[in-house]
Amino acid sequence: MSWTTIDRACGTPLFRQIYETFRRRILQGELQSGEKLPSTRELASSLQVSRTVIVEAYEQLLAEGYIEGRHGSGTYVAEGAYLQTVGAAPEGPVPGLALSSPLPGRPDLIDFRHGLPALDLFPRKLWGELAKRTCSRTAPEAFGYGRPEGRSELRQTLCHYLRRSRGVLCEPDQLIVTTGATQAISLIARMLLTGQSDVLLEDPLTHEIHTMFALPGTALHAVPVDGQGMMTHLLPTGLRPKLIYVTPSHQFPLGGVLPIQRRVQLMEYAARTGSYIVEDDYDSEFRYDSAPVSSLQGLDPDRVVYIGTFSKILSPALRLGYLILPSSLVENARQHKWLTDLHTPSLEQLVLAEFIEEGHLERHVSRMKKIYRKRRDFLIHCLTRSFGDKVTVAGYSTGIHLIAEFAGISFTPELLSHIENKGVRVYPAAFHAYRKEEHRHRLILGYGNLAEEQVEEGIRRLHAVLNNYWPHKQENDKFC
Ligand SMILES: Cc1ncc(COP(=O)(O)O)c(C=O)c1O
Repeated sequence: MSWTTIDRACGTPLFRQIYETFRRRILQGELQSGEKLPSTRELASSLQVSRTVIVEAYEQLLAEGYIEGRHGSGTYVAEGAYLQTVGAAPEGPVPGLALSSPLPGRPDLIDFRHGLPALDLFPRKLWGELAKRTCSRTAPEAFGYGRPEGRSELRQTLCHYLRRSRGVLCEPDQLIVTTGATQAISLIARMLLTGQSDVLLEDPLTHEIHTMFALPGTALHAVPVDGQGMMTHLLPTGLRPKLIYVTPSHQFPLGGVLPIQRRVQLMEYAARTGSYIVEDDYDSEFRYDSAPVSSLQGLDPDRVVYIGTFSKILSPALRLGYLILPSSLVENARQHKWLTDLHTPSLEQLVLAEFIEEGHLERHVSRMKKIYRKRRDFLIHCLTRSFGDKVTVAGYSTGIHLIAEFAGISFTPELLSHIENKGVRVYPAAFHAYRKEEHRHRLILGYGNLAEEQVEEGIRRLHAVLNNYWPHKQENDKFC
């Protein structure tokens, strides 16, 4: 058994890394009370560090009550340190911060990071022209403080676009422009989760989003997800959740699209329990084999808070997203937005409004959809050529990532770092899950920002590593 790993390059003292891993594993119940820990000598030798480092980590854990020494017999996990209510926080560094860019000195790293659109295909020239025009023509008032809900030009045009393209039922008054979907989710969490609250979340779901809902007094309940999204027949009875967070048009990360029967079941449950549904519609414009599914919001605008973003259809660097709220929540949301950052930058909002108004957004989405479909098909082709029946590809109908399931493989931190040492970075689905064991064999592979040559080489490198990991060495060593 591997107790912990260390990263000598990350700058965090070694004793701290060891302390934090043990602490997290104890809190999450992975190490259970009464379980014996390795001796300081054994652990020092397996990690190739000095024994003082281990002693220091153990002393810290001992001082905080996570472990206890039993005279003459060793060190054990203490009673009562398993934090049951909040569920297990997904492990590791926050993705998108620590994992966002190629490692220094590794320009050849091929990064299957999910959630990134094709950065080199951002319509720079057009955006630049619109920005120049906006800057020179806009009245001076736009350069002052704005309103918390954002510019009316953008809210108007966005409402039309959403009615047309997503079946969202809204008036501009219900829309608040935010700094990405992330801020929209955070505002909703802080607005609705006051006092003791229950929240239902999909399992798995984006690591940061889980963290945003984990506010003091909030009990998080994970509802399992399968290939069709949230398993609504498993919605818990006996609770009155304040909110239920879902990604019905493209579940993150598993990729399912919630069928109507489950949508109805979810809406009925929310009506019965008096809960709000928070619908995060982060990338469903890219649906490849049929038209995008309509929003959940269109079924009951008084019950659903709809969240959208321009991070995937244009660029995450814009930091532009929005919230569409039932009328009763609008004023409260405006106040929260004002107290958070007053408002989202006005000039960017005006440029985006022009971009949508002149039809560029719809043209851009339609062009990118063709490109992403080609990239997706090529990735699937490379995976099946290389891995044959050892891989199952899922969740690829929508968006800019898919799920690859590798029979018999468990993507442990050791295996992931081995893969990265070979020049390819992949992302484990288990990172985002409460029930990690069910997802150990799954990778999330983003393809939005990778050219075909990179996909081909990346899968070749991945294959070179995994081929040695199957219990019986594979004969299959074909590459695409
Ligand atoms: C499910 C989901 N929702 C929302 C976001 C955040 O998007 P934004 O860049 O708009 O904050 C992400 C990030 O990739 C995500 O995975």
